[in-house]
Amino acid sequence: MVKKVKTYYFSPTGGTLLVAQHLGERLGALLGAEVEYHSYTLPSEREKLPQLEAGDVVVWVTPVYAGRIPNKTLDYVRRALHADGNPAVALVTFGNRAYDNALAELVGLMEDGGMRPFGAAAMVTRHAFSDTLGAGRPNEEDLAALDYFAAQVAEKLLTFYSQLLTISIPGEAHPEKYYTPLKTNNAPAGFLKAKPSCNSELCTRCGKCIDVCPMGSIGAKDGMPTFDGICIKCQACRRRCPTGAIAFTDPEYLSHVAMIERTFAALKRPEFFLARNVQLRQIEMTEIPLLDNFLYEAIFIPEGVPAPPKSIIDSEELQVYVREFGQKKDDRCLVAECDGKIVGAVWTRIMDDYGHIADDTPSLAMSLYREYRNQGIGTALLERMLELLRKDNYERVSLSVQKANYAVRMYRKVGFVEENETEEEYIMVCNLQGKE
Ligand SMILES: Cc1cc2nc3c(=O)[nH]c(=O)nc-3n(C[C@H](O)[C@H](O)[C@H](O)COP(=O)(O)O)c2cc1C
Ligand code: SF4
Ligand code: SF4
Repeated sequence: MVKKVKTYYFSPTGGTLLVAQHLGERLGALLGAEVEYHSYTLPSEREKLPQLEAGDVVVWVTPVYAGRIPNKTLDYVRRALHADGNPAVALVTFGNRAYDNALAELVGLMEDGGMRPFGAAAMVTRHAFSDTLGAGRPNEEDLAALDYFAAQVAEKLLTFYSQLLTISIPGEAHPEKYYTPLKTNNAPAGFLKAKPSCNSELCTRCGKCIDVCPMGSIGAKDGMPTFDGICIKCQACRRRCPTGAIAFTDPEYLSHVAMIERTFAALKRPEFFLARNVQLRQIEMTEIPLLDNFLYEAIFIPEGVPAPPKSIIDSEELQVYVREFGQKKDDRCLVAECDGKIVGAVWTRIMDDYGHIADDTPSLAMSLYREYRNQGIGTALLERMLELLRKDNYERVSLSVQKANYAVRMYRKVGFVEENETEEEYIMVCNLQGKE
């Protein structure tokens, strides 16, 4: 099933490459698959996007910059993480401060792009800014933990290759802000525009720094480097210079380095997350009271609007969805279960709700708990329900949905089309028996 492990990494100062190679090799050996390595560190390497095929497992490895995926690589990563359900493993490296939202962001981009993350990890590596923070990491213990993680991921891949999965990662999948670096006095450190400088007495004009800049920002004048374009402070030029000719002398930057060295000296541990598999099945009678929760979750709450109280579901127009559910002949309900917990439900009944279009046509309602959304579970539940209704010879099924609801896209994907609309809502219909 698994043909290749394709490992992609951004690694200006080498820490991320080390971890990427370790994980890639381990996974390849455990899965009996060929391993490929692809750097996207240099501008020329970001000119092409990954070419993925069925059977490719994607391992994506990035350092954490300011608590997220490095800003200047984000557009490339977003475009690159597109696949047709390929399994993936997300890995971030961080310099012993914190990985904040970076891992959730990477896993979120994988899910948005149609990948299926089986595992995710955050490994400590040397902080590019410092010789003490994260020094000697990953150490033997870190690598042993990474090996154990690789073994668990490989086992999941071999057992649940094409099954439905869910993974939860701490942090925001779609963060807006970056970590604000601070100085020793706790005031924000403004070194966004800081650039390195070169000591002409030490420089041998070898040109190495020019070749390693991920931004292609280093030029040359009489063989000496000139720092012309954008600098992301990655430290590749400084750390790769064989004579130590390059330095960052910006006082705001140096104060930030002093602050993190002082505050984050205590060793952080690597962290690992594994996907869990999700089962779809008919609801059991004893589980029917759970529909109250899913009805409440199904209420669309636009951004910035406070959630209504749970008692809203006692209103007559919402009670039609759940009252005495299971007792009418057209009632159908499927649930998604993960580790013994029901995490989502889709149900249909013939009822006089907002989506009602005819007395022989069931209306559909569905919801998933927030942390299980956007991972393909909703689509799978819907498809399974459409299959069931088709088998039971229903001609059509309808629903109503707020136009601003993210679920509209999912309904269209499985075959619902807009039949009618008000200012805020669509009535959508899916023809089940292949007729227009
Ligand atoms: C601009 C920049 C920002 C960073 N931000 C963080 C951070 O927010 N948290 C952290 O723990 N480490 C941070 N680091 C450290 C890197 O994540 C770490 O050094 C990583 O190993 C660098 O990867 P590389 O060795 O492959 O270049 C930052 C490093 C750089 C260069
Ligand atoms: S790597 Fe160092 S020695 Fe070589 S050109 Fe750059 S600054 Fe000079
Ligand atoms: S100039 Fe800036 S971006 Fe380029 S290698 Fe040096 S630190 Fe990195």
